Amino acid sequence: MLEIRNLHAEIDGKKILNGLTLTVNDGEIAAIMGPNGSGKSTLSYVIAGREGYEVTEGEVLLNGANVLEMDASERAARGVFLAFQYPLEIPGVTTMTFLKACMNAQRKARGEAEFSTPDFMKRVRAGADRIGVPQDMLRRALNVGFSGGEKKRMEVLQMSLLEPTFAILDETDSGLDIDALRVVADGVNALRDPKRSFMVITHYQRLLDYIVPDTVHVLSKGRIVKTGGKELALELEANGYRDYIGEAA
Ligand SMILES: Nc1ncnc2c1ncn2[C@@H]1O[C@H](COP(=O)(O)OP(=O)(O)OP(=O)(O)O)[C@@H](O)[C@H]1O
Ligand SMILES: [Mg+2]
Repeated sequence: MLEIRNLHAEIDGKKILNGLTLTVNDGEIAAIMGPNGSGKSTLSYVIAGREGYEVTEGEVLLNGANVLEMDASERAARGVFLAFQYPLEIPGVTTMTFLKACMNAQRKARGEAEFSTPDFMKRVRAGADRIGVPQDMLRRALNVGFSGGEKKRMEVLQMSLLEPTFAILDETDSGLDIDALRVVADGVNALRDPKRSFMVITHYQRLLDYIVPDTVHVLSKGRIVKTGGKELALELEANGYRDYIGEAA
């Protein structure tokens, strides 16, 4: 699925990723943990193709294709999805319009017919009910004035509608109440599929009780310094990062 080899990336001349190597297999959920500032969000941006990041060395392959050569929309069309740590607000664009544009852009790029408006509405309404997004929120400007938890639910709604191949969730659990955490986890678990993989960035082991990862990776100073199974998250919760972050120096 996703193969990252010796990835080096910088922003404004500041080196953030330092030889990061990571493999996520088909159908896997990989949890990424690590101290603040270690490069987790940067990694998600570099995979999704956000502007401003310069890759100076290394490879990112999605099912064998070099994603670093693609622009962000091409990556999205190939099924890369990123739920932002800080979801963007788009004043003047209703959530419904935004969702329709995303879904149709993706279908178009794949050579599929666009959804008719009734078809699209049916899907969005059903998805919103599933994720617990009130229908009236769909008529509001995207994320403008949404609470922290509402923004995170909206990210999960987008993800479930776009049915990505490789989905990255960047601290989607932060700021969620207990019920919303379960909703988010159910949203992810419902999408689990042998042909779909997830990268779940989180600081807290708690989320991983609901979204059980296949692998857990510790990121420190721009590289993966430890890889383990789900028990690694429990160990980190108990001991912190001190046993691992020294190794990155
Ligand atoms: N535009 C920028 N200019 C300079 N430094 C930046 C820029 N963007 C990010 N950085 C730095 O890159 C480092 C990695 O940031 P990143 O957001 O990837 O960390 P993170 O692991 O996601 O942290 P957190 O757990 O707090 O979300 C930080 O030291 C950050 O200050
Ligand atoms: Mg971050």
